[in-house]
Amino acid sequence: MSDNQPDDGSKRDFIFLATGAVAAAGGASLAWPLVAQMGKAADTLAAGSIEIDLSKIAEGQQLKMLWRGKPVFVRHRTAAEIEVAEAVELTELKDPEADVDRLIAGPSGAVNQKYLVMVGVCTHFGCVPVGEAGDFEGWYCPCHGSHYDTSGRIRKGPAPKNMVIPPYEYISDNVIKVG
Ligand code: FES
Repeated sequence: MSDNQPDDGSKRDFIFLATGAVAAAGGASLAWPLVAQMGKAADTLAAGSIEIDLSKIAEGQQLKMLWRGKPVFVRHRTAAEIEVAEAVELTELKDPEADVDRLIAGPSGAVNQKYLVMVGVCTHFGCVPVGEAGDFEGWYCPCHGSHYDTSGRIRKGPAPKNMVIPPYEYISDNVIKVG
C-alpha cells in the first residue's frame, strides 16, 4: 500500500497530510512525520481548506487528515455502526447530541449517515483517540481512558464533550471540503 492511501486495519494510525487549499485524498500528500521536520512551512500548508474524496474510503475504514494542525477523522461507517449510534437514548449521554445532528446533508439534501467527520482530538486534554476501540467500539483515548461511541460522542471516562465536528460541506456527491 502506498503512503497516500486510506488506512486499513494493519495501518490504522497512519495519518497523511493533504497540502494546499484543495489537495484531494489520494493526491499530493505528505506523511505525518514530515510535519515536525518541516516546521512552520508544514503548519502553513495545513492551514487552509482540504478536499477529501470519500470514494477512496472503503466501508469500515477511517481516513485521517491534518487540517489546521489537528487530525481530522473521516470514518465510512458500517450499517451496524450507524444503527448503534442511532439507537442511543439522549438521556444516556454526557453531552447529549443525536447522531443525525453530527452529520450534514449531501447535495441531494438528504443527510449522509455513512460518513462521520470529526476533529480527532480528545476533549479531555487533547490526545488523539484510537479508532475501533473502547467499550463502545468507536474511539478510545488511551491517555486517561475516555471512550467514544460510533458517533464520536463521549460515553465513559473523563472527557467532558463529544469530539468536535469541524466546518465542512459536500461539494459533490463524493467530495467534501473541510474548512
Ligand atoms: S486526553 Fe483523552 S482521556 Fe485525557
